[in-house]
Amino acid sequence: MTCKTCNYKLKEATIIKAENLCRDILALRIKLDKDSLIFKPGQFIMLSIFGYGEVPVAVTTTPDIKDYFEVAVRNVGTVTRAINRLKARDKVGIRGPYGNGYDFKDMHDKDVAVIAGGLGIAPLRSLIEYAKNHPKAFKSFQILYGAKNPGEVLYDEELFACEKFARTMLTVDEAQGHWHGETGLITKHVDKLRITPEMRVIMCGPPVMYKFIIPEIEKYGIPDEHIQILLERRMKCGIGKCQHCTFGDKYVCLDGPVFKYSEIKNNMEAI
Ligand SMILES: Cc1cc2nc3c(=O)[nH]c(=O)nc-3n(C[C@H](O)[C@H](O)[C@H](O)COP(=O)(O)OP(=O)(O)OC[C@H]3O[C@@H](n4cnc5c(N)ncnc54)[C@H](O)[C@@H]3O)c2cc1C
Ligand code: FES
Repeated sequence: MTCKTCNYKLKEATIIKAENLCRDILALRIKLDKDSLIFKPGQFIMLSIFGYGEVPVAVTTTPDIKDYFEVAVRNVGTVTRAINRLKARDKVGIRGPYGNGYDFKDMHDKDVAVIAGGLGIAPLRSLIEYAKNHPKAFKSFQILYGAKNPGEVLYDEELFACEKFARTMLTVDEAQGHWHGETGLITKHVDKLRITPEMRVIMCGPPVMYKFIIPEIEKYGIPDEHIQILLERRMKCGIGKCQHCTFGDKYVCLDGPVFKYSEIKNNMEAI
């Protein structure tokens, strides 16, 4: 069990690998200096870079790996720019893990489809890797992932390799050069999933993706409570103190970042 007080403390950690996934996204493999990170897929950590600040980022690896964990960080501003300059052996600080993670009880023994847009694949990779290691946890597993162009498809080799245990479709809005997947907006490919009304759908991507995909999948009779969505908000504390991440009566850092669509659909601020 995680000690709540210890969970607020900053822990020192070391970068053991830094690799660009694309032009502006760096993947980091991180090892805590004193212990292992105990987390659930879908949770996030606060990653600090000394002298710059800290940002919430999703853990992208499965908890089955105890020696290290990984994150993927897009360079969008002050802290993430500094993170994108990190290299092996640099020191960082970690708080967390925080948030609820995916509702595994609800997915157990069910047909599951994950739908990711852009960097939304990062938190879903943790679930995909878990499914690869525990194929009996789900009745079936499908992956639909869309990116703007082949240069922005993250983890493509390992996702194509998922075809061994999951129906996998990767699509790009526009294809140039070598591309072995589909082309066209992700919404165009939703009807290629084998959707059943009992299916659980887990989604992470830009809010505009949710707006178009939810009506598509609801046509198949999937109830709102079977759809899990990850939300992002600006965060400061990650632990329910600063109110930066709230919408309505919800805190993304405490009640989320994973929400059932039924919990948020009537709250226009949510998406
Ligand atoms: C639960 C959670 C998980 C996340 N996981 C990841 C992840 O795995 N990888 C990743 O790259 N990013 C992730 N993010 C987003 C990341 O935390 C922000 O990009 C980061 O905080 C920006 O900090 P900065 O100092 O670099 O940017 P700033 O200099 O503070 O801002 C730069 C620009 O980004 C905008 N911005 C900042 N934060 C957000 C945000 N949360 N949502 C939308 N726009 C924002 C600002 O308005 C501004 O335009 C996650 C956010 C949350 C809440
Ligand atoms: S980030 Fe401070 S309350 Fe959620």
